[in-house]
Amino acid sequence: MHHFQYRNNELHCEDVPVSRIAMEIGTPFYLYSYATLKQHFRAFDDAFSDVPHLTCFAMKSNSNLAILKLFALEGGGVDIVSGGELYRALKAGVEPKKIVYSGVGKTAEDMEYALRSQILLFNVESSQEIRLLDEIAGRMGKKAAVSIRVNPDIDPQTHPYISTGLKENKFGIDIRHALEEYARVSGLRNLTVSGVSCHIGSQLTRLSPFVDALNKLKDLIGQLRKIGIGVSYLDLGGGLGITYNQEDPPHPREYAKAIKDELHIRDVTVILEPGRVIVGNAGILVAKVLYKKTTAEKGFVIVDAAMNDLIRPSLYGSFHGIEPVRIKTRAKIKADVVGPICESSDFLAKDRVMDAFETGDLLAVMSAGAYGFSMSSNYNSRPRITEVLGKGDTYHVIRARESYEDLVRGETIPDFMR
Ligand code: LLP
Repeated sequence: MHHFQYRNNELHCEDVPVSRIAMEIGTPFYLYSYATLKQHFRAFDDAFSDVPHLTCFAMKSNSNLAILKLFALEGGGVDIVSGGELYRALKAGVEPKKIVYSGVGKTAEDMEYALRSQILLFNVESSQEIRLLDEIAGRMGKKAAVSIRVNPDIDPQTHPYISTGLKENKFGIDIRHALEEYARVSGLRNLTVSGVSCHIGSQLTRLSPFVDALNKLKDLIGQLRKIGIGVSYLDLGGGLGITYNQEDPPHPREYAKAIKDELHIRDVTVILEPGRVIVGNAGILVAKVLYKKTTAEKGFVIVDAAMNDLIRPSLYGSFHGIEPVRIKTRAKIKADVVGPICESSDFLAKDRVMDAFETGDLLAVMSAGAYGFSMSSNYNSRPRITEVLGKGDTYHVIRARESYEDLVRGETIPDFMR
């Protein structure tokens, strides 16, 4: 359910016509719906309300300060993967004790920053990282709370680039060696064992891989408790999928039920790290048609947004719906929607049957709220685009469009060349 709907043939974000925003601020832009974001966060969080839990939004999916603030006001925490994400989280007012730090390559500086900020815990992913964290915490006179991110070797049945819980992936510590690692951690002076964690992949559309992972984590907690290692957090990561096209993923309610039905473990707080399921369908990318072109082989609709703005189709071959902002009676064509970038991989849709758009038409690239802006870049020296939050009959620019000056900020020509 989202609040991008047609009224009188005009796409609206809540009560604002999308074409009005385009006219006032120009294209392209990301547009999020406040009510949808809030509703999705609540649907997810409420589904776990009868068990001790903490919903830590995976902010890599969308790290705009206004969006983080919205979830913080709803009582949520965040899952971070870098010092930059920690900075954003603190700036948005997320409580440090609701921040978990994941990631396979944390730097010493970022560890220090996180320790200074007194975050809830570190999800550690290798023996070397454990050693470094212990050393840094010792030097700072602090104790770092850790969960070991285990790799449970479960096939999440999703795109290979976004599966993370198979033993050939770089993530986590092989669950078969987890006990030894925990024993080591509990012997280290500056670390305390806090929990067990995993994240098996993203855009999962079935429940069984989550349940299998949960069972493996539960077994591990049981074994740890037997040898006197207490665990108070069980972090299941994120990964719940959404509908981009024909997918039929479980509702967060069903996801929560499947987990709660298997949980049966005392004295643990469940941590969830959802990203896409909360923001994915709460955002769209609005672009304008620049040109149309037909070659002997096929048709192209050339728009002003490109792979640097939304890289998912190029990188993963992902599907995003292409919808008209204003519905007109039009013939249908089969074409690629492409951007101005000098690469054949610069497409937002391929061989898609859609309206025969004309120059100047606006189109909406649907389901672009997750891993859209956050993965955008300045490739081809294209300023990063603006982000807008629609709420009721108003809208707010929550990130200004970059200028050409922004593009060269920080660059210098050495004196000897002047
Ligand atoms: N927790 C950890 C440790 C993660 O690595 C991720 C995502 C999440 C939580 C959130 O997963 P979600 O609920 O959003 O599925 N760029 C790709 C997705 C990469 C996901 C990386 N990790 C895409 O555009 O599909």
